[in-house]
Amino acid sequence: MSEIPAAEQFAGKVVVITGASAGIGSGFAKQAAAYGMKLVLADIAEEKLNTVAEDLRAQGVEVEAVRTDVSDPASVEALAERAYDRFGAVDMLINNAGIMAMGFSWEVPAEKWDAVLRVNIGGYVNGLRAFVPRMLEQGTKGWILQVSSIGGLFPSPLMSPYSVTKFGTLALTESLHYEMQMRQAPIQVSVVLPDSVKSEIFSAAKGESTLPAADAFNDALQQRADTIGITPEEHAARVFEQVAQGRYWVTAQPEAVDQGIVPRAEMIRDRVNPVLSFEV
Ligand SMILES: NC(=O)c1ccc[n+]([C@@H]2O[C@H](COP(=O)([O-])OP(=O)(O)OC[C@H]3O[C@@H](n4cnc5c(N)ncnc54)[C@H](O)[C@@H]3O)[C@@H](O)[C@H]2O)c1
Repeated sequence: MSEIPAAEQFAGKVVVITGASAGIGSGFAKQAAAYGMKLVLADIAEEKLNTVAEDLRAQGVEVEAVRTDVSDPASVEALAERAYDRFGAVDMLINNAGIMAMGFSWEVPAEKWDAVLRVNIGGYVNGLRAFVPRMLEQGTKGWILQVSSIGGLFPSPLMSPYSVTKFGTLALTESLHYEMQMRQAPIQVSVVLPDSVKSEIFSAAKGESTLPAADAFNDALQQRADTIGITPEEHAARVFEQVAQGRYWVTAQPEAVDQGIVPRAEMIRDRVNPVLSFEV
């Protein structure tokens, strides 16, 4: 484990952040800027992306803002081209853009299932396909952060598309980590497990389900984020410190992992049937 502080390791490095115009992604952008990193910011929401980029440029930060749909391989490939054209290197990739869908698994419309799979998993795969070959070719120390969720450890009712993709991110990221070891590549892989962070992810999914319980659950999660959620800036600072230490498992809210992971492992080991632990 490294003891060199994040600010020292990351200063002057180039970071690509997807989903950078809101929530967790915008927090990463601000914190990376505070370390003196050069930023390539990607998001499908172009106007908001440009606002975030302009604010940072006004502070003297070098920023390339690229309207990107992470679910489209060609769009992510174009993002990689822009990043390398502008800065000549990419040292850190943060796959972060994600969306939510609420409802009973059998009632979520096929298009919505498809959208969540295409953004939350397809987007990360597209990111790896576009950037990993270039980063390997570069041959310098690099970092890949994949934002999963506490929901990638503990499945939830009424948000199965999301749970599926966040579990999938765990599998994808661990595979990638082993593959980097096989290639003896100088690229450190980390999976990020946020609990509640103040963001727009729940409000963006509001009203999509016809099921009152799904909206109520969405409201409860939004309220939890508003009250006990940490800010995206706090989240980013804690995450970057752990990444700088060389950690694979990264969480700004370790208590959420600690509380659940051993009981879950014991439940599986002892073949105990899962029981719904809350009411909606
Ligand atoms: N906020 C939380 O409490 C929380 C908890 C656990 C995990 N996460 C994860 O953190 C990540 C970021 O979520 P957030 O809470 O900041 O959400 P958010 O909705 O605030 O931000 C997500 C960003 O992704 C962008 N985006 C959506 N679809 C896109 C696409 N196709 N291409 C490019 N950009 C796209 C949105 O425009 C938005 O700016 C997600 O992967 C989410 O699953 C969030």
